[in-house]
Amino acid sequence: MGCSNMLLFFLFTWSFSFLGTYQLQSSQTQVLLQLRKHLEYPTELEIWQDHSRDYCFISSGTQVNLTCQDNVVTELRIIGDKSIKVSDFNGFAIPNQTLSERFSIDSFFTTLARLNNLRVLSLVSLGIWGPIPDKIHRLYSLEYLDLSSNFFFGSIPPKISEMVKLQTLIMDNNFLNGTVPSWFDSLIDLSILSLSNNKLTGPIPSSIQKITTLTNLTIANNDISGKLPDLSALRSLYVLDLSGNKITSSLSPMPKGLVMLFLFNNSFSGEIPQQYGQLQGLQNLDLSSNYLTGMPPAKLFSLPNISYLDLASNMLRGSLSNHLSCGSKLEFVDISNNKFTGGLPTCLSSKSDKRLVEFDGNCLSIDMQNQHEQSHCEEVKNQKSNKQSRGNTAILVGVIMGIVVLSVLLIIGLLILLKHFCHRGMSEQHLLHKAVQDSSVSGYSFELSTNASFISQAANLARQGHQVCQSFSLEELIEATNNFDNSSFLGEGSYGQLYKGRLMNGAEVAIRCLQLSKKFSIRNVRLRLDLLYKLQHPHLVRHLGHCLDSGGQGDYNLNKVYLVSEFVPNGTFRDHLSENNMGEVLNWPQRLTILIGVAKAVHFLHTGIIPGFFNNRLKSDNILLDQHQMAKLSDYGMSIISEGTENFVAKGDNYKSWQMTSLEDDAYSFGYIILEAVVGPSQSASREAFLLKEMTTLQSQDGRKRIVEPIVLATSSQESLSIVISIMQKCISPDASRPSFEDILWNLQYAAQVQATADSEQK
Ligand SMILES: *[C@@H]1O[C@H](CO)[C@@H](O)[C@H](O)[C@H]1NC(C)=O
Ligand SMILES: *[C@@H]1O[C@H](CO)[C@@H](O)[C@H](O)[C@H]1NC(C)=O
Ligand SMILES: *[C@@H]1O[C@H](CO)[C@@H](O)[C@H](O)[C@H]1NC(C)=O
Ligand SMILES: *[C@@H]1O[C@H](CO)[C@@H](O)[C@H](O)[C@H]1NC(C)=O
Ligand SMILES: *[C@@H]1O[C@H](CO)[C@@H](O)[C@H](O)[C@H]1NC(C)=O
Ligand SMILES: *[C@@H]1O[C@H](CO)[C@@H](O)[C@H](O)[C@H]1NC(C)=O
Repeated sequence: MGCSNMLLFFLFTWSFSFLGTYQLQSSQTQVLLQLRKHLEYPTELEIWQDHSRDYCFISSGTQVNLTCQDNVVTELRIIGDKSIKVSDFNGFAIPNQTLSERFSIDSFFTTLARLNNLRVLSLVSLGIWGPIPDKIHRLYSLEYLDLSSNFFFGSIPPKISEMVKLQTLIMDNNFLNGTVPSWFDSLIDLSILSLSNNKLTGPIPSSIQKITTLTNLTIANNDISGKLPDLSALRSLYVLDLSGNKITSSLSPMPKGLVMLFLFNNSFSGEIPQQYGQLQGLQNLDLSSNYLTGMPPAKLFSLPNISYLDLASNMLRGSLSNHLSCGSKLEFVDISNNKFTGGLPTCLSSKSDKRLVEFDGNCLSIDMQNQHEQSHCEEVKNQKSNKQSRGNTAILVGVIMGIVVLSVLLIIGLLILLKHFCHRGMSEQHLLHKAVQDSSVSGYSFELSTNASFISQAANLARQGHQVCQSFSLEELIEATNNFDNSSFLGEGSYGQLYKGRLMNGAEVAIRCLQLSKKFSIRNVRLRLDLLYKLQHPHLVRHLGHCLDSGGQGDYNLNKVYLVSEFVPNGTFRDHLSENNMGEVLNWPQRLTILIGVAKAVHFLHTGIIPGFFNNRLKSDNILLDQHQMAKLSDYGMSIISEGTENFVAKGDNYKSWQMTSLEDDAYSFGYIILEAVVGPSQSASREAFLLKEMTTLQSQDGRKRIVEPIVLATSSQESLSIVISIMQKCISPDASRPSFEDILWNLQYAAQVQATADSEQK
């Protein structure tokens, strides 16, 4: 460009800026052009290329809107095309997704802040990456701020609390972490707060109750945990969406005017409050995939405006009244996968196009093929309550013993009385039998030299007509696995290949194919399998049945056994131990819960109704998690089939071959599982040597900081961690004085209690 041309250009723009009062201040134009440069010239902003035109008057497209008032920009909305395609972001530019690594979030906001009359700012899907800078508060006139679908990370800056004119704050689909700030209540006009699809942790702060102007509160799909505060004071609240988090409390009362309530995919427990039946404006309610119990309030179904009601995948139980009435707008009801019994109310069962009702996976008396057995819906007895503290143990044991003795005496007394006075009472035999069972399950020291009694117990169980393991035909299994197709292959365990299958009734199962190294008679194998089948515990993967394949060559040629067990969908414990693995990473309290579950299961295997299953090849791959992250041990007790002698039923001499002689063996492997739960799974080939080295590092505080899994460090109290490390060291100790599972369980429960106390003090 020649010198004269240049001069002409300046003259032109200079004169132009004095033409009419609508002209955008040139300083504001400069800011816009700089922003375009920061954003690396997105195609959406090509309309700004024509410098001769007033940006305020470029007709607004669908992707860029600019509004001016008194020569300044008051509203800027840009929607780009860089939508997020990654699930994790580590804070470095990603080619073709984020802006390049030259982009500086800080200078971008410095430039942006010069548009300090902005009332509306919306920057969506532009690939902006970096932490939100403090200087954002220089945009103090903002009433509407939307930064969705970018790559913002780090915590939400406290300076936002100074932007008191904000009415709408939307930061969905970013990578924000840290806790939900407790200062939102200083934004006195805030009506929409939306932080979905980020990585926020910690509880919903109770200060949220004070933002009475809120209409939409949406914090779905984060890692929110802890308790849900009472929100009934939020009079204007219209939508509440906290789905897809890890909130563990019971449900709290809701504001009367609420219209949409989404709390699905959390860990809420307890009953659905009766108060929910009084939310007259409610249209959509989704509480699915939680741990809710009890009967839902009948009034929920008849709310005047309710149209969508999802209560699926909880533990709701009871029988819905036949006369239950449904609201006239009710279009969708899902109560599937609960523990409902009885019939379906008339207003839910009448087939009509108007209303879709899902109810599979209960124990209802209709449509039986998609319902469970009644036993599935029966109340499970409460677990033995945890012991309080170390100091009290002795006293507690004494007290419990006392109570047990007293109750037994009382029961016997009562029985004698009953026998004398009332012949319709419960049968004595039944009660006595139950007492024997109960005391053996919770027994404090079970004598282990009980081979003979073991057999007689097994025989007893068989005689009492307990269900016997189901037999599947090979054809059924071939059908279930699509002829053992590669697509159903799950992997190779320590005991044979594992397939996933779907039975005719729709149930998903895991099928293990065991090659027998020894020749067993079919009868012998059946007896062994029946024993295995009787090992039922909430934390053991349940055996459903088997198929014995003799290749059609008679009784003694049995060479393959297929074991059918429940399919546990959520991966292994190991998958969930470290960021680098596939599963969602578990925090410390969750890890403790899982370890406690497994310890209970192993304790049961050692000392339960059929005691003596010792070598269970415990490892973190064998601990499976179900959809509620409940631990289930698999591959237990397998030695009963894969090893052993043929005549074990006939004589009592040869148990030891499958009942490992050393009780400590499981404790030793469990020690390694605890270690992995603390430092993450070892990727190293010589696992034990590697882990042992880490163990010495764990002795010092500094060492812990270095090797303990970061999420464990962040979510555990020092004391809780120390208790676990100390019991772990006892488990792995080379000398034989390893702790019993009773002992291990006690320590883990104690650590969990210490952790819970620390967590509640922090709040
Ligand atoms: C701009 O305004 C038009 C018309 O009001 C609207 O359809 C469009 O979604 C707006 N664009 C942005 C980016 O907000
Ligand atoms: C980025 O996009 C360009 C053009 O669209 C393409 O040539 C290049 O391969 C892409 N790079 C990556 C890493 O996807
Ligand atoms: C938030 O994310 C950043 C970047 O990924 C990380 O450096 C930081 O430690 C995280 N903060 C918290 C509290 O998790
Ligand atoms: C607020 O809730 C209303 C009603 O569901 C909805 O239409 C609107 O999109 C929500 N706004 C935001 C920003 O989520
Ligand atoms: C609940 O979470 C599971 C797993 O995290 C996910 O697959 C499922 O889609 C979620 N349900 C809903 C309704 O979003
Ligand atoms: C039910 O919905 C209608 C229209 O959506 C609304 O006018 C009415 O106020 C609602 N009823 C209640 C009790 O909120």
